[in-house]
Amino acid sequence: MNIGVRIVGTGSYVPDRILTNHDLEQLVDTSDEWIRTRTGIRERRIAADDEPTSALATAAARRALEAAGLEASALDLIIVATFTPDQPFPNTACFVQQQLGVTGIPCFSIEAACSGFTYVLEIAAALIRTGAYRTVLIIGAEKLSSMLNWEDRTTCVLFGDGAGAAIMQACPAEENACISSCLGADGTYTGILQTPAGGARIPVTAEVLEQRLNTIKMSGQEVFKLAVTGMANAAKDALEKGGVEVEQLRWLVPHQANNRIISAVAKRLQIPDEKVYVNVEKYGNTSAASIPIALDEMVRGGLVERGDYLLFVAFGGGLTWGANLILW
Ligand code: ACO
Repeated sequence: MNIGVRIVGTGSYVPDRILTNHDLEQLVDTSDEWIRTRTGIRERRIAADDEPTSALATAAARRALEAAGLEASALDLIIVATFTPDQPFPNTACFVQQQLGVTGIPCFSIEAACSGFTYVLEIAAALIRTGAYRTVLIIGAEKLSSMLNWEDRTTCVLFGDGAGAAIMQACPAEENACISSCLGADGTYTGILQTPAGGARIPVTAEVLEQRLNTIKMSGQEVFKLAVTGMANAAKDALEKGGVEVEQLRWLVPHQANNRIISAVAKRLQIPDEKVYVNVEKYGNTSAASIPIALDEMVRGGLVERGDYLLFVAFGGGLTWGANLILW
């Protein structure tokens, strides 16, 4: 490998509006106690009506560019991970490009649900290593509030809106920071976590809307079990591929779906709590945005030092999973 890849700036953005568990008690038959003990979530952010996914993504991107000391004109490529795009098409990265005011460079979005950021990181790293792209903006952004059934207590309490971004850049091979990744999927489980309608399979009709088939449906317990094994296995594979022992890790940065999933994964990997970054209490599950929001908080909070090994690990609809081992 002649070209190395490193992260030169991070940024994140969450909307101002906070929806607490107590607020949700007014909407559905739930309680702060139920939500906290089952998930660890206390509150989540909700984007404004005039704030689509691309607006959240662009705000995070501007902060990442500023942290990297770069102008948007330095970018060679923009990739957005989201399953709550502004529109079915054009892709959300094109809206981000428009808002950043840079035209000409390629823009595309990928959909790997909650694993999206682990996927875009590996895609960007691989493209940079070809030598064709030098500076790539990757973003995980979601406006999940737009895709929830606010009368379904089994899903609406779990999710929130937000975005996180990173600028990835080519560097000398000896400074390579993207050590290894492990991505995977199992399409036999497409039915356990999905938005059934709104695509080509079941286009939107009045009946679809009445049945709320255009909102997120989930078999919670099944997802829970598969998430724990899937995340633990992906993490182990990335560590093995990178030749790094679990004891060498400074931080496990898991997808923030649920405290109990995170604890079970950390336990399987034998990683102590103090090495696991958790912020699910503030934002809920922000899907593709959760890892880059966590990373940006950690970087800005001074929790990450040069030479630290970080392991990102995620799991989501598809089913998909992914892990990335980073040397900061
Ligand atoms: N408030 C109060 N009661 C509720 C709520 C709620 N918000 N939601 C469900 N219940 C009830 C159920 O109706 C059920 O009642 P019943 O026994 O009378 O039928 C009872 O609580 C228990 O329901 P379960 O689904 O068995 O609850 P469980 O302990 O499994 O917790 C949860 C549900 C939190 C969704 C859990 O299964 C989970 O964390 N699953 C993982 C799913 C996840 O995080 N998905 C995110 C997307 S995937 C990803 O990011 C990894």
